[in-house]
This record gives sequence, C-alpha cells and structure tokens, in this order.
Amino acid sequence: MPNNHKQPTIFCIFGAGGDLSKRKLFPALYNLFIDRALPEKFSIVGLARSCDLEPFQNHMRDAVEEFSRQKIKDEKKWSDFAANIHFLCGEFGDEALYKDLFKFIADLEKQWGCEAVHVYYMSVPPSIVEMISDNLDKAHLAKERKRERLVIEKPFGRDLESADDLNRRLLRTWHENQIFRIDHYLGKETVQNLLAFRFGNALYEPIWNRNYIDHVQVTVAEEVGVEKRGGYYDHAGALRDMIQNHLLQLMCMVAMEPPVSFNADEVRNKKVDVLKAIRPLTPETVPFSAVRGQYGHGNICGVDVPGYREEEGVDPHSQTETYAAVKLYIDNWRWQDVPFYLRTGKRLEARISQIIIAFRPVPHQMFPLTAAETIEPNRMVINIQPEEEIILRFQAKEPGTGMYLRTASMDFRYQDEFQTASPEAYETLLYDVMVGDGTLFMRDDQEHAAWKVVTPILEVWENTPAFSMPNYAAGSWGPSAANTMLAQAGHNWFSPLWQRTEFK
Ligand code: BG6
Repeated sequence: MPNNHKQPTIFCIFGAGGDLSKRKLFPALYNLFIDRALPEKFSIVGLARSCDLEPFQNHMRDAVEEFSRQKIKDEKKWSDFAANIHFLCGEFGDEALYKDLFKFIADLEKQWGCEAVHVYYMSVPPSIVEMISDNLDKAHLAKERKRERLVIEKPFGRDLESADDLNRRLLRTWHENQIFRIDHYLGKETVQNLLAFRFGNALYEPIWNRNYIDHVQVTVAEEVGVEKRGGYYDHAGALRDMIQNHLLQLMCMVAMEPPVSFNADEVRNKKVDVLKAIRPLTPETVPFSAVRGQYGHGNICGVDVPGYREEEGVDPHSQTETYAAVKLYIDNWRWQDVPFYLRTGKRLEARISQIIIAFRPVPHQMFPLTAAETIEPNRMVINIQPEEEIILRFQAKEPGTGMYLRTASMDFRYQDEFQTASPEAYETLLYDVMVGDGTLFMRDDQEHAAWKVVTPILEVWENTPAFSMPNYAAGSWGPSAANTMLAQAGHNWFSPLWQRTEFK
C-alpha cells in the first residue's frame, strides 16, 4: 500500500475492548504501520465501558501477536506503534466521555500543530450507534465534513424499516460522504480483483452475459459454528448475517455494468443498479426461491460437534436458520433469465468462498459420443478464500491416438503470481477510511436496496414455522432442499472442493 496519505489521523475505537478490535482492528492498524501506510502523526484511542481491562496496550499486544499477518518481529517497532495507543474509559451514554475525547483530540492537534482526520469506529452493538453519534454531535466532534468520519459495522439495521430509520437518523448529523458502512467482504483482495478481472481485460466482457453464461453460483461456506456469538446470531440468522450483505455484494461484483470511471459513486451506482434490477420475490415465489436450514450435531474433520440448538446463547427451540440458499434473477438485458444461486451456511464441510460462472454448452456437439463420458461446459471458478485463485475449466484432447476429450484447467494463483501475502480486508478498509475513499463501503441506497431484496424471504420465514429444523448435519453441505431447488431448474451445486480432489 502506498504511503501517500500524509494527513494526521486519530482513530477513535468505540468498543475497543471487544472481539473485533482484538482480532481485526488492532492487527490491521499494526500491519498498516509496519507497511508504512499510516501517516507519521497518528493516534489510536480505545474507548470502552469497562476499565477492568488488563492494561490496554498489553492486551492489544497479545492480539497483534495472535492475529496479525505480520507478527511482532521487532520490539522497537512495536513500542513505536504502542506509543500511539491511548485509552479512555467511560459509559458511552455519558457526555463526560465525549468531553474527555474532545479535550484529548484538541490537545493532540495542538501538540501536532495541525488539524487531523478523526475516524470514529463503531465496534459496538447496532442499538447504541445512534446514541454515540448524537453524543459526538453534541460534543462538536461531528462538524467537519472533510475530516470527521463515522465507521459502522454490520449489521446495519435488522430489516428494511430499521435500516432506513438508522440511515435517516444518522444523516441528520453526518453527510453521506462521512459515513463508512463496512461490508468486510468488499475489502478482500480477491473480491476487489473481480473489478480488475472484469474491467481491466477485453477478453471476458463480450461473453459476460446471458448469451454465454448459463447460471452463476456463489458459495460462502464456513466450518465454524456460531462460536461465542449465539446471543447475536440467534436473532439474526444466515439471511441477515451473510446474504443481505456479503453474498449480495459478491453478486453485484459479478453482475454490474462497467462503471465509467473508478470513482466511489460511479462504482456504487452500478452496484445499486444490480440490486434494483433483482426480480422481487413474493410470498408465492419464496418457497421455490429460498431454502433455510439449521445444523444438527455432526462431525467435522473427525471431531463431534454439537447441534446449533445446543450452542451457548441459543434458544433450545430456536427456528433461526444457520444456512440459507436463494435463487435470484436480474431483470435487465444482460442477465434476463440467468439464475444466480447464492448459498451460505455454518458448520458445513469446509471453509470456502467461491464464485462459479457456469457457461452454456457449445451450440453443436460435433464429437462422437465415444469422445468423452461427459463433456463439461466451460466453467470459471473464482476462489475468494482460503485459496485465492481463478481457474478456467475447458475441454482438451487427451494425448494419444483417437479423439478423447477431458476437462482441463488454466489457473491463476495469487500467491504464485505475486509471491506476497494479500493484506487483510480490514487493512484495506481502514486505509480507505483514512484517505476518505468510499468505493468499498455501502452507501445508504445500497443498504436500502439490499434489504429490499431479502425482505420477502424474511417475512415468509418469520410467518412460517420451520418444523423440519434441524435439517442438516454439521459437516455436510446443507439441507437436501437446496439441491432440489437447483434440480428444478436442471442444475446442481458444483462441489466446491472439486479441485482439491482432482488436482492436489
Ligand atoms: C461476518 C458474519 O460478517 O462474516 C460472521 O457476521 C461470519 O457470522 C463472518 O462468520 C465470515 O467472514 P470471513 O471473512 O471469515 O469469511
């Protein structure tokens, strides 16, 4: 990352004692520091309710050691970084905390002899974001449009109404350009590469449409269960937690029209167009277009794991889905009648995020039936994680006399090509907040349009008890109804792990 950002920056992290801060934010800031991507003058102020935290700097040192891409190899570098970490403790509802923050910032700017960018990072439950925002406003910490920025983690609202309401309230204090709504999938290197891949090459765009593409599959599978987040997750579920944001954003990257320029609003306009063009589901179509599942106990890599209802913080009669699959159509010239299948789930067989572009078969098959057992139409596989690669599957002649076809692959692997580890999504996102680039963040109309897509499903699911849950075993690929949904359209889910078995 280039160090072209010179404006001093003060990161104020609300909820600094929490898990996100430990696993993602501090490790990301440390990596930016090591990569010389932070300005010379920067400060990180952790704000937390509880002062019982063990000394904050030590806590964060452990976090960096454990979760950072670049461990602490040089003590001097760590102490230079740590000298910029500060801590303010108090209740987020107490105006005194904001007066302290105001004073802290004013003193620092006086000492630096210049005005800084202020980043207010809400690593807190969504229910208190508005209260913190109001308090920042009252303390005159939200006035400077160019220098004061609010960063909000997902979930942004819990449905269309609450998301719209939160937007309205925040926009009373902040200008839209000051609000950075995080969807951390957009910060992933492989996801950003989709833009380079599609719009930096002349090769793919002419075939990137309904004439050549049969359907698209997006899979975001997790091996983990709900971990320690049962309390939150049981009120969210997979549709809200993953589909409304991460998977719809991946779909937008695949389906958007070419933007006129690489400008934040240009790119986001094109994504909003996709969301707006998604054919609305209705109570009648939801049962054929959406499948929910919940994991029961099972076995992952030889280890027995409990079912969802036995997890900490989860209602033993919970009807919350830990798996969701949806079939969506985009009503526009490019994508008419091309199904986009999105699926995500916890406690699936493996952790993998993958997009598959399934091309149409050749219009006329000239080879004799004996030329192959099956002739597979071309497929482009975009692996987002843990592998970072793009693979094109095509037919090739097997060496030897006679004509026998077999599927072969052309691969691009990040690691092999660039020989450098990709930055973590949070490094990219924090850097972009610092320089004020909103391209990878959700705009208010994007949030609105994404909630609109999932609302009919949420409503049907809320009004129809899921008697059959749990309906998939931990360690499997989800409920069989998800296979049926694709089979009805003559498709089937591709095994996300095919290349591990075939090539490795
Ligand atoms: C978060 C969800 O947004 O993304 C989690 O709230 C999920 O439930 C996580 O585990 C997955 O992120 P990643 O980067 O590990 O794929």
